[in-house]
Amino acid sequence: MSDRPVIIVTGCSSGIGAYCARALKAEGWRVFATVRKVEDLAALEADGIESLILDYTDEATITAAVTEIAGRTGGRIDALFNNGAYGQVGAVEDLPTAALRLQLETNVLGWHELTRQVIPYMRKRCAGRIVQCSSILGIVPFRYRGAYTASKFALEGLSLTLRMELAGSGIEVSLIEPGPIESRFTANALVKLHENIDLENSPHAADYARQLARLGGKGAINRHKLGPDAVHAVLRHALTAKKPKPHYPVTVPAKQGILLKRLLPSALFYRLMGRVD
Ligand SMILES: NC(=O)c1ccc[n+]([C@@H]2O[C@H](COP(=O)([O-])OP(=O)(O)OC[C@H]3O[C@@H](n4cnc5c(N)ncnc54)[C@H](OP(=O)(O)O)[C@@H]3O)[C@@H](O)[C@H]2O)c1
Repeated sequence: MSDRPVIIVTGCSSGIGAYCARALKAEGWRVFATVRKVEDLAALEADGIESLILDYTDEATITAAVTEIAGRTGGRIDALFNNGAYGQVGAVEDLPTAALRLQLETNVLGWHELTRQVIPYMRKRCAGRIVQCSSILGIVPFRYRGAYTASKFALEGLSLTLRMELAGSGIEVSLIEPGPIESRFTANALVKLHENIDLENSPHAADYARQLARLGGKGAINRHKLGPDAVHAVLRHALTAKKPKPHYPVTVPAKQGILLKRLLPSALFYRLMGRVD
């Protein structure tokens, strides 16, 4: 049996998960990286990373993955990095309830189920780290991101409550709140936008067209985009520091958003936020 600390990282087919799984392995962790699709297993296995299928919307895959990992490690799970998610774009009034439901199933309820299944292994060892990849949109709302904002606000609420409830158990809970990070996130969000939002017949049609036209451009926020290594840097702190923080904002826009929310009168803050896109 290996004595390397064991971490589960979800959503490792691309972006932050793909980067962090490899970086953590290089730092000496025994990484169990999960993906949704069978075809995404090979790239991780090729880099010597143990990989499994896990889809947050399918509880059976969560149970199967946790059982398999615990079987391979003799019940040792030191850390969990909940990361796999997507963004459902679209104005709140245009959002089919089914699309909102799937957003919450994926970004909140699936994370909750995996976390619940992992905690007993951590409790047995009186130690563990749970790190949630939230978003600045878990603290500051954003126009046309209502579903995603709701999912990350819910995640913040659940995770901070869990942090307080686990105080003294040896298990620490932290949230990472990135701003714009290089990944497939925007491309994946575009697919969901076209899948679920009736763009032409919306009262927001002109806004959608304008936003789609300048997508990928260097808007005020995207100018500050960082690589996934920026998330890994704070993840490492959350996993190894003696006193991991509750919040780890990443990127300049994320830090500015939090500061402005704290300092400005709320009516002014939301008026200003309403102009950002
Ligand atoms: N990129 C940013 O600007 C940014 C900013 C703030 C927060 N975040 C957060 O960072 C995390 C990682 O996103 P990313 O930027 O690396 O985007 P990404 O490149 O799109 O990666 C997202 C990962 O989540 C997986 N995923 C999607 N639905 C899933 C499900 N039902 N079950 C399990 N996994 C699922 C995707 O798998 P498939 O390939 O199969 O779809 C993919 O592996 C997310 O929690 C996101 O909310 C990102």
